[in-house]
Amino acid sequence: MRTLEFKNGDKMPAVGLGTWKSEPKKVENAVEHALKNGYRHIDCAAIYGNENEVGNAFQKVFSNGNVKREDVWVTSKLWNNAHKKEDVIPALKQTLKDLQLDYLDLYLMHWPVAFSPEVTFPEKDEEFLSLEEVPLHETWEALLEAKKQGLVKHVGVSNFSTKKLEDLREKTSEMPEMNQVELHPYLQQNDLIEYCSKHGINLTGYSPLGSGDRTDAMKADDEPILLENEVINKIAKKHNATPAQILIKWAELRGTAVIPKSTNEGRIEQNLQSVGYQLEEEDLQEIAKLDKHYRYVKGNPQFVTEGNSYDNIFDE
Ligand code: A2P
Repeated sequence: MRTLEFKNGDKMPAVGLGTWKSEPKKVENAVEHALKNGYRHIDCAAIYGNENEVGNAFQKVFSNGNVKREDVWVTSKLWNNAHKKEDVIPALKQTLKDLQLDYLDLYLMHWPVAFSPEVTFPEKDEEFLSLEEVPLHETWEALLEAKKQGLVKHVGVSNFSTKKLEDLREKTSEMPEMNQVELHPYLQQNDLIEYCSKHGINLTGYSPLGSGDRTDAMKADDEPILLENEVINKIAKKHNATPAQILIKWAELRGTAVIPKSTNEGRIEQNLQSVGYQLEEEDLQEIAKLDKHYRYVKGNPQFVTEGNSYDNIFDE
């Protein structure tokens, strides 16, 4: 499988298993099944509320010797209520404990948003911390410190716009090695890809299949269903593949990593098998035309309400 290379030569497998929305009682089997069937990249986060169960799967698979810890790329993310510099390493240590690991391959600042430490999802404006109180570069420096301490091999960010990346570039000594953002044919983000490539930042695309299992509260009424897109389905038929496989292959061919979520054994296998397909130039041209800047994950209603200091979280 194609890999993404980091500055020190470390390599991250392009296709990983996503675990956002994976129910705790299903995720353990999903991760175990994935690792036994060739996945070597698992994407986690503290806020997904299932790192304990993901950790049980790691424990099982690593202890029986079938798969070695050092052969698997594990990513996790710092939640928004631990942005104060003194809170970053304790939050990371909790994640390591839950995942039953002694280091992460990659740790990301999950969102460019800071909450009060005691709040998981704010309901009132007072439960946010302003970026003047807890600037992003301060949180970023604490992530760099975690790397220095050997708790993580690489550090990066998630949901950062080019504007926020530029801000970090001006204020800090070291740039993120990864930016994890929403990427799929309806949200291709070519400008962000170009910026990241120029500055040596790798990209991971989340919600590559259109994230259809979000709760109704997170969905717009008229939301387009990516897996049902006609062009994607036509290309899938032509290659004897499924629409999901075309979406994953497209992401991989763009040079990004991609983390489709599934807790279904057959679909977990199917998603990794996408690497065996090829897309033709005309397929890529047709998919390029599908871009309509459509975000499934808007950052609201969880963090952004009109008028609060984060109401333009993506700077667009
Ligand atoms: P399930 O977990 O039951 O397989 P995203 O990665 O964009 O967030 O999308 C995840 C959603 O896509 C989940 O509802 C997941 O359901 C579904 N899914 C994952 N793989 C496939 C596939 N190969 N075909 C169809 N749906 C899939």
